[in-house]
Amino acid sequence: MIDSIQQLRNVIEQDLATIKDPASLEAFRLKHLVKKGTLQELIEHMRSVPKEEKPLIGKVLNELRTYVETHFSAAKEQIESKDTGIETIDVTLPGTIPTIGHVHPIRKTLDRIVDIFAGMGFSVAEGIDIEDDYHNYEALNFPADHPARDMQDTFFIDDPEGDVMLRSHTSPVQIRMMKHHEPPIRSIMPGRVYRNEAITARSLAEFHQVEGLYIDKGVTFADLKGTVTSFAKQMYGEHSSFKFRPSYFPFTEPSAEVDIQCYLCKGEGCRVCKHSGWLEICGCGMVHPNVLKNCGIDPEIYSGFAFGFGIERVTMLSTGIDDIRYLYENDMRILRQF
Ligand code: DAH
Repeated sequence: MIDSIQQLRNVIEQDLATIKDPASLEAFRLKHLVKKGTLQELIEHMRSVPKEEKPLIGKVLNELRTYVETHFSAAKEQIESKDTGIETIDVTLPGTIPTIGHVHPIRKTLDRIVDIFAGMGFSVAEGIDIEDDYHNYEALNFPADHPARDMQDTFFIDDPEGDVMLRSHTSPVQIRMMKHHEPPIRSIMPGRVYRNEAITARSLAEFHQVEGLYIDKGVTFADLKGTVTSFAKQMYGEHSSFKFRPSYFPFTEPSAEVDIQCYLCKGEGCRVCKHSGWLEICGCGMVHPNVLKNCGIDPEIYSGFAFGFGIERVTMLSTGIDDIRYLYENDMRILRQF
């Protein structure tokens, strides 16, 4: 009996050494540890062992049993903790949210503006940032040395003739459009503009404008009012209030400015609207006959309107941001909100 126990121990030792994966672990269990396994078979032989040998044999057998059990559970633990090479996913862990970029609020506003005007039949055109005096001023009916040029503090570029500049508005694109296209013309012209102005909560030295131009036979101020009002209602809501106020621009006659009721105080008067209850959103007017002539368009046959507004201003109104500088500081806490 002692020999059988020793033999079984040898077999078990060899078999333990072969355990390397769940399959060999299970094979070991089935061979040695189940009811009809080798260990149990030997234990059953105890019955036929003479009484005086029982204590000794029982002790050796018990030792074998403890040996198998401890080694088996150690092997089991090792296999279960082993990296099996199969990827396991803990579905209870919080997921990692991928960071997805999004369109900047200024670009979003521009996309919306383009969308609205495209719906009214306007095409989109672009000009150039570095202009000459002729396109930025002269052709737009700003006489040389006319004080109206002071309305826009220009950044001049060093050149011998002194007539190259960063465009101070998008209106020169009107001139380029009219010179190169026959009426009817119905376009908006978005772009970056530059002015030598102090940077404050309301103004920047570099910002964006959208210019609009509609030239055809029989275009009237009523068309201008209808177009600008339709745009403003689509942009700011059906129930927003506007007013047209007479104004002056050298390139339009008559000229007007459009005010919207202040989004912050709803017309009560506050810091943002300088206590007037209104915010200026747009300059506009009927294209001056001199401008049409400068572009080779006969003002006796054609008429038209033009308008221009700042995209940052529109963005401030639609987002409620009350300091224009926030739009350029790239502070993610601000940008993430829009
Ligand atoms: N160019 C003007 C500015 O920058 C805005 C403007 C006013 C554009 C009236 C127009 C217009 O086309 O008709 O202040």
